[in-house]
Amino acid sequence: MNNLTQDSFNFRKLKPEDAPQLIALVEDVYSRIDQKHIFVRDDLEYIEKTLKDGGRGLGVYLDDELVGFRYVTITPREDSLVAYTDIKTDAKHVVNLDTVLLHEKARGFGFQNKLRTMMLEELMADGYHVYASTISPDNEISFANSINAGTHLVALKHVYPSEQFPEGVLRFIFFRDFQRDFEFTDETAEAAPGEHDTIHELLDKGYVGVSYSDGKIKFQKRRC
Ligand SMILES: CC(C)(COP(=O)(O)OP(=O)(O)OC[C@H]1O[C@@H](n2cnc3c(N)ncnc32)[C@H](O)[C@@H]1OP(=O)(O)O)[C@@H](O)C(=O)NCCC(=O)NCCS
Repeated sequence: MNNLTQDSFNFRKLKPEDAPQLIALVEDVYSRIDQKHIFVRDDLEYIEKTLKDGGRGLGVYLDDELVGFRYVTITPREDSLVAYTDIKTDAKHVVNLDTVLLHEKARGFGFQNKLRTMMLEELMADGYHVYASTISPDNEISFANSINAGTHLVALKHVYPSEQFPEGVLRFIFFRDFQRDFEFTDETAEAAPGEHDTIHELLDKGYVGVSYSDGKIKFQKRRC
């Protein structure tokens, strides 16, 4: 099993009937995630609906075994993750980069980024240019991948209240308009992902997170 390479895997578009397989993979991987709050599980109905109308998904397969996936929803701006932020956008629709998960044996090959790139290529060709996502500040691999791929950290909020987490879970919210990026000043600042008060202060002052390295998020101030 140790001699797997990127080429051992193949990618296929997900269909609504793949939803039960996705749920089984999520349950298996989730059982081994220590910090349960970093991953919010969608239910079968939501995944089926997403893959049936409005959303799109890509699966990663090892032969015929599903070992990873990403799916997105495309929603009117007012129903999107952007509604949690004070970001103004003229876009009618936002692509919400909902969920990505890889079985341990499919990790370390850069598939979180590859799946995003593959899906964005198709979505951009279809005219979608505004993207948003949420990632736990405790999920370093995931937010590092996301911010370093060019989506900007624009908010830190509690979202997705549930029976398991009645007050919701804390999430960085990422945003990127690939047709019209923010205009930035030269003012920069840094904060570690756990320095929530500092991050709130910077966001309130008009900074957004633009990259991550050596345990620090780099912020840059937007031009008003
Ligand atoms: C987050 C996640 C999708 C990233 O997986 P991935 O695409 O394989 O990650 P990458 O290939 O970009 O690897 C990122 C780093 O993780 C390390 N890594 C993590 N797990 C690894 C594993 N099992 N094997 C090898 N490397 C691993 C790699 O060394 C790599 O570091 P590098 O960039 O310095 O080489 C995956 O860890 C996952 O499914 N986690 C559980 C669910 C989750 O958190 N989903 C995201 C919710 S927002």
